[in-house]
Amino acid sequence: MFPFDRLDRLEDLSALDKVAQPLSRAVDAAVRPQAVEDALHGTWLGHPLHTALVQLPIGSFLSATLLDLFGRDERSADLLAGIGLASSLPAAAAGATDWSKSNPSTQRVGLVHALLNTAGLALWTGSLVARRAGRRRAGTGWGLVGTAVLGASAALGGHLSYRDGLGANHEADIADTGPTDWTDIGGADVPEGKPVLRDAAGTPVLLVRTGESIEALANRCSHQAGPLHEGTLHDGCVTCPWHGSTFRMSTGAVVHGPSVHPQPALDVRRREGRLEVRLRA
Ligand code: FES
Repeated sequence: MFPFDRLDRLEDLSALDKVAQPLSRAVDAAVRPQAVEDALHGTWLGHPLHTALVQLPIGSFLSATLLDLFGRDERSADLLAGIGLASSLPAAAAGATDWSKSNPSTQRVGLVHALLNTAGLALWTGSLVARRAGRRRAGTGWGLVGTAVLGASAALGGHLSYRDGLGANHEADIADTGPTDWTDIGGADVPEGKPVLRDAAGTPVLLVRTGESIEALANRCSHQAGPLHEGTLHDGCVTCPWHGSTFRMSTGAVVHGPSVHPQPALDVRRREGRLEVRLRA
């Protein structure tokens, strides 16, 4: 069986931080202005862009390998190798942008994922060069090893998504576990202009009062579950203290990534000096 528990150990390998931390800062500085970063996260799509973009290089490299091994159409295999290399660039840019805004344990696994991808792409570049030079056997060999390395890297990509929850919606369960009926969250004494944390029968809720109006969002950030009540307020929005996702308080809409998932909003009402909330339909 594949030793998946070794992947967990990668998350604890703090020695990788010496490379991961400066590299993530460099990526962060490179993807500017904010609109470029948001576009690469996929906030406009409401879905992580990286997972959509990687389909083309993975499919192209795998198809080229199958044609190399079992087909007779060398031209199509070479064309797919070129498409795989060209389409891997935007996919890598989106992935690096997501990675630069993630927790340290996630960044350690992501760093190894990126190194394996780099090695796989270098092998496929060598394969394409060999093909162009008429060295068919070498081109096929380099490509085969490149696909194997990229396959191992894809396993790490799955770990990042399914185990570490990178790109997942960390508030996805609130429709089943949150307050769908009016639920008491304590007294109506909420200080103005400050983020306040309340509990709605086990669901942490962020409250912000402006004048007579009180707005409420689920408090765990949809990106990686950061505590929004420790964030900053500005222009009717809250910014998460962990990686800077910004949500509109009135609706929960994503204003800036890395989150691509809206933050669940709750309705608020006053009753006999108390506050009640319920999930907005
Ligand atoms: S947890 Fe990452 S931005 Fe909130």
